[in-house]
Amino acid sequence: MRDHYCRPISIASINPQTFPGVSLYTKTGGNYVLYKPHDRQFSDLDRMRLERNFVEFLYVRTGDMEEVTKFLENGLSETLGRRDLNVWTKGQILYQTTVNYVIDVFENPEEAAKLDRCRNLIRYLLEYICSAPNSLNAIHSVADHNYYIFVHSLQVAALSLLVHDEVYRLTPDELTDVGIGALLHDLGMIFISNKILEKQDALSDVEYYKIKRHAQHGYECLKEIGGFSEISLLAVRHHHERYDGEGYPSALKGEAIPRTAQVMAICDVYSALTADRIHRQAVSHARALQIMRSEMPGSFNPELFARFEAIITARKKTEDN
Ligand SMILES: [Fe+2]
Repeated sequence: MRDHYCRPISIASINPQTFPGVSLYTKTGGNYVLYKPHDRQFSDLDRMRLERNFVEFLYVRTGDMEEVTKFLENGLSETLGRRDLNVWTKGQILYQTTVNYVIDVFENPEEAAKLDRCRNLIRYLLEYICSAPNSLNAIHSVADHNYYIFVHSLQVAALSLLVHDEVYRLTPDELTDVGIGALLHDLGMIFISNKILEKQDALSDVEYYKIKRHAQHGYECLKEIGGFSEISLLAVRHHHERYDGEGYPSALKGEAIPRTAQVMAICDVYSALTADRIHRQAVSHARALQIMRSEMPGSFNPELFARFEAIITARKKTEDN
């Protein structure tokens, strides 16, 4: 089976009693092999056997994902409350469920109209991210299985929520709107051809112009779908503005840039630098901050960048210990 026909599911999220009757696959040397047919129930013995072999994920066909996603999203409250799961495993399930949502919206933007779906996920994300100092850690576990853009969307949402929660006094509804904007900030990329997105050589001026249109396109797409708050919409539209006015689409400068977009710009660049890309390898946390500080002078609100640096460095220390 080809790669994009299957999506990963954390084994911990497969509750034998309640998991939908769908076929599950393992991945061996790039190929998907049937692990259990849809009419055989997944058992505790299966789980033990897989865990003994250090298998963390099984795979579900894309066609079965709607059923599985519904099951996972409805069960999140119970999953995050379970005492037998550690922080890492809970994160793995929550992060993969969120990535699945982003994939759904990128494949079918109309899905974004079901705002309650996104709102629920953002609330769980916020609760989870703020609950434990090492809760950003499990993002790495889903990064191996998913295309960059989806994990990047999740990471920008997680970081933006964390920073907003620590720096500003926002209501839960405002924080949710921040999370929604962050999770969908690159939705406009669906209007750009894969040929440009996957190009390894330098982009031509025309190609770069097309890429730059994604911020405005994402904004227009969500505005047309309707139901999104100004906080979410403006964050999507202005996440590439730069504090010195050198950004796009509106070349806004300083405090004229909506505050959430200022935070998101920092989280976006940090996330992009610390992830492996087609044309460039990931750099370390420290190196990313150094690049942002010394090679992008004037790009970010300096006070906000200092706060970001402090928050993310404190988190990083907890993760490394
Ligand atoms: Fe972007």
